Amino acid sequence: MEAQRPLGILDSGVGGLSVLRHVRAELPHENLLYYADQAHVPYGPRPAAEIRAFTETITHFLLEQGAKLIIVACNVASAAALTHLRATFPETPFVGMEPAVKPGAAVTRSGKVGVLATLGTLSSQRYQDLMARYAQGVQVMADPCPGLVELIEAGRVDTPETERLLRSRLEPMLAAGVDTLILGCTHYPFVIPLIQRVAGPGVTIIDPAPAVARQTRRVLAEGDLWTTSAAPGRLRLYTSGDPGRLADLAGRFLPDLPQPLLISQKCFT
Ligand code: DGL
Repeated sequence: MEAQRPLGILDSGVGGLSVLRHVRAELPHENLLYYADQAHVPYGPRPAAEIRAFTETITHFLLEQGAKLIIVACNVASAAALTHLRATFPETPFVGMEPAVKPGAAVTRSGKVGVLATLGTLSSQRYQDLMARYAQGVQVMADPCPGLVELIEAGRVDTPETERLLRSRLEPMLAAGVDTLILGCTHYPFVIPLIQRVAGPGVTIIDPAPAVARQTRRVLAEGDLWTTSAAPGRLRLYTSGDPGRLADLAGRFLPDLPQPLLISQKCFT
């Protein structure tokens, strides 16, 4: 039963859960497998070849579990590995992520947008191509927010330390007139309330996850892969780190997830 197989979602850690919540809302009957590579988080500072190797191994694993489509719910992994994954698994549809430069450029009134993404994403060819294509006539200020992924992985989404870090990275952008912030890392939506507090209500924050969920729906429809089940989709999580920590973070970040969460440890050597 091809169509009843689950969707696979992967990220370096809990960031992809910010995508998973929109996928569940868009496709409530699909079964989902989520893999958090928490033994290797953060991916941002790692060489692209290493990220390709990690995501290839995880994709193998998710396909073994029956995944019919893979969502690379990680910007830096999409930049480093999406082309490689598509070539390595030609039968499998992939949905990737990229900073939403095009929508950001369309909504800014000041003509100045900020991109918050990890170093690996900002230094990638994919990002350079996006800028060349969609950022014409718009001034873009990008910041890698070093340490923010680690704070979010530690569950510190609303602490004075996280607020200090965000203030120090956002204030130069805001002073320069940025009125739109593009979240180019899937971990960052979990600090949207804090970003909005620091940036003020006049700044638009763009999370690309709803668009990724809609794209997933389109790809399923094109491949005739849509589940025919009318039951709520099941969810299973895997981590290469500590399942207890993932359970704690997932429960805090997404309190609507069905409890108890099914979480297994799956490491690769
Ligand atoms: N969540 C990932 C992204 O969207 C990156 C986090 C990391 O550096 O591991 O880029």
